[in-house]
Amino acid sequence: METIQVGSEQIESSRFRWITFSSPEAVVDDGQDVIQGLSQTQKTLPCRYFYDDRGSELFEQITDLPEYYPTRTEQAILEKYAVEIAQLTGGCELVELGSGSSRKTRLLLEAYNQLNHQLHYCPIDVSAGILKATAIALLRQYPRLKLSGLAGTYQQALAQLPPTELENRMLIFLGSTLGNLNDEECNTFLTQIQQALQPGEFFLLGVDLQKAIAVIEAAYNDAQGVTAEFNLNILRHLNHRFQGNFALDQFAHHAFYNPVEHQIEMHLRSLKRQTVVLKTLDYQVVLDTGETIRTEISRKFHLPTLIDSLKTHALQPLHIWTDPQGWFGLLLCQRQCTSGECP
Ligand code: AVJ
Repeated sequence: METIQVGSEQIESSRFRWITFSSPEAVVDDGQDVIQGLSQTQKTLPCRYFYDDRGSELFEQITDLPEYYPTRTEQAILEKYAVEIAQLTGGCELVELGSGSSRKTRLLLEAYNQLNHQLHYCPIDVSAGILKATAIALLRQYPRLKLSGLAGTYQQALAQLPPTELENRMLIFLGSTLGNLNDEECNTFLTQIQQALQPGEFFLLGVDLQKAIAVIEAAYNDAQGVTAEFNLNILRHLNHRFQGNFALDQFAHHAFYNPVEHQIEMHLRSLKRQTVVLKTLDYQVVLDTGETIRTEISRKFHLPTLIDSLKTHALQPLHIWTDPQGWFGLLLCQRQCTSGECP
């Protein structure tokens, strides 16, 4: 039996593989989205730059904060209904977009394991560090598990998913990360999901719902300042990645609910007039005193509207679960045939 040393353990090499998406195009393009965002009137940064290894760690800390309700609310829903989900889908490969620590997905793996379904898990994350650490822990914990770790963006991974060995597949997108996309990006994303799935396959989506503004705003302005540190870390990451000179102490965290767009907006406010240089991008930008860079939007969804846009993308909600307060929604959708696809 061929084995491979993983951490301090021997694991059969047939049980896992790594795929890293770093096409030449991706390397050449790297950072163009940063330049584009910082060149707008309202300066923005793509929120995926939060998630270097340090940022992923800080996000894990956020999920434990008393004010940050989304993770534990979604976790509670999964604890209650994971077995029901596994019964509804039957055996299938689990492909997770933005897997992070896979803490919530463990509940699903547990359920599929319990029902004796085959265990195939394909975590996708831009942070290779957390992806590897999580994969090793899972392979140890579940001796029947087969795992393919994909290091890259959702776009890269969805466009080039390795063929599944199982008859069915479920794409999993938890944590309300869908809320980071504006309407147009959301439509593009759902089209990619539609294209990545065969008719009959599944899409499991977790979304944060509209609720009292005070509850939402507290979740992004925690007393311990972890969210502020997470927000500022995006600048540290850019400094490191593109030889930048953002001075972290010259920016302040600012998060508020925009009731018109139904979204939290996270900004970094410049505390003085300053010029920032990103050397390897050959780019510089001036920020005025008080001017902000918007680093993230986090939309809070209205279920009926969301269901409509899922249906528009041939994704039929089969089952919707929420918590007793109706704060968070978990939707199991099935890819429908579109005209011409099925007899
Ligand atoms: C994982 C992207 C959904 O928007 O709530 C947490 C990220 N940002 N605190 C969110 C986040 C600030 C989180 N998402």
